[in-house]
This record gives sequence, C-alpha cells and structure tokens, in this order.
Amino acid sequence: MDAKLSVNINKIATIRNSRGGNTPDLLKIAADCERFGAQGITVHPRPDERHIRYKDVHDLKPLLTTEFNIEGNPKEQKFMDLVLAIKPAQVTLVPDGTGQLTSDHGWDTVKHKDYLLETIELFKKAGIRTSIFVDAEAGMIEGAKETGTDRIELYTESYAKEFPLNREEAIRPFIAAAKRANELGLGINAGHDLSLENLNYFAKNIPGLLEVSIGHALISDAFYYGLENTIQLYLRQLK
Ligand code: PXP
Repeated sequence: MDAKLSVNINKIATIRNSRGGNTPDLLKIAADCERFGAQGITVHPRPDERHIRYKDVHDLKPLLTTEFNIEGNPKEQKFMDLVLAIKPAQVTLVPDGTGQLTSDHGWDTVKHKDYLLETIELFKKAGIRTSIFVDAEAGMIEGAKETGTDRIELYTESYAKEFPLNREEAIRPFIAAAKRANELGLGINAGHDLSLENLNYFAKNIPGLLEVSIGHALISDAFYYGLENTIQLYLRQLK
C-alpha cells in the first residue's frame, strides 16, 4: 500500500497572518488539499501562534474528512488541552522549544521514557493514535517502543540534506531504523524537508512507510505547479 500524504498547512497560516485578514483562507485550502487527493492534514500549533492558531485547529476539526494530525510539544499544557479536546486521528509528539524556527531534533526516548509513557497513555485513553518524532537511531526506536506509542515519525532532515550528495548513504540509517521499527511492531511515519526530488527514493526504500507529512517544499512547489497539480505530483512520488 502507498504511504499516505498528509499536507502540513502551517505555511498557509504564516502567509495569512502576515496581513492580519483571512487571505489566503486556511480552511478552504485545507478542504481543497483533501479534494485534490491529500489523505491527511497536519498542523503544528506553537505557543506563540505565529502560524497555526489554536482557533484554526478548532475550526478545522469539523471540516476535515481525512486524517487530522496535530503535532507539537505536549509539555505545553495548552497543547495537551487542545489535542484532548479536538481528538484528532493522530497526535505527533515533537520536542520543540518555545520560539524554535522549526523542529530540529527527535525525542530522546530513553531519557524521557517515563514522561512519554504517561503522556501517550492519556492520548490513547482518549482514542487518539500516537506518534513520536525521532531520529533514525535504533536506540531511539527501541526507546519509543517502551513508551507504548503506536507509531514513530522519522525525522528526515539529515536524509534530505545528504540526498543530493549520496543517496545510498543518506537513506542507510533510515532503512535500518525502519527495519527495527517493523520488528518491534511500530508504525512508521516520516517528515521534514521531504520534496519532489527526494520523496520517491525515500518511499521506495523504507519498508512499511505509512505516512509522510510535508509542508515547506509542497507549498513552495504549489507556486509553480498550482496546488492541485502539486498534490498529484507528490502522490505520484508515493506510488
Ligand atoms: N514533521 C514535523 C514533526 C515537523 O515539525 C515538520 C515541520 O513543521 C514537518 C514534519 C514537515 O516538514 P517540512 O515543512 O519540511 O515538510
């Protein structure tokens, strides 16, 4: 089965917020992403609400017909309250600091095992599938298994960076991490800096890849190809 494409719409909110009005219309774009074939919508509300606002998440919930994935740091009480109120299909736990430009590391699942275990239990009790953002390291995958999470999200920035130089080297740790996750029965998502250039090779080589969440490159490509074509192009990379 092809991995699902979840479109991260944070960038749309960033453009909207730069003028204070409702252009572009985030809710319309989210619905259109689904209409154009996206199988999920991802948002990553941050405490400063510089892109997705908490209100956006409430507004999106009744509108979406595909998988709603909310990413963020559960250490923020506001994030916990939001996710437990919205009950999306999936929550992805990301260890971001406040004001961080973008996610730049996975969880240390060994050091934070007890905390993650407790948090994941809360989400699972609410019927929300859980995923933990991790680096492609066996120790972190094994640690993730101990937390009871359903899935991991492989942090793909290092893959994307190395891909143009040496794709075999770039993918090697991710294949190993995916194999370990498969052995442990963890579902595999992936994200960060995936693009039209590097996505197909990643999807072809990662056994059991279930979902990718893509924002920056996809929205940037939409300037040239239009949103509908761009989504179709990304879906084709996942075939
Ligand atoms: N996954 C996580 C955890 C992220 O924080 C982000 C960026 O918000 C993405 C995936 C998507 O990354 P990109 O915008 O580079 O596609």
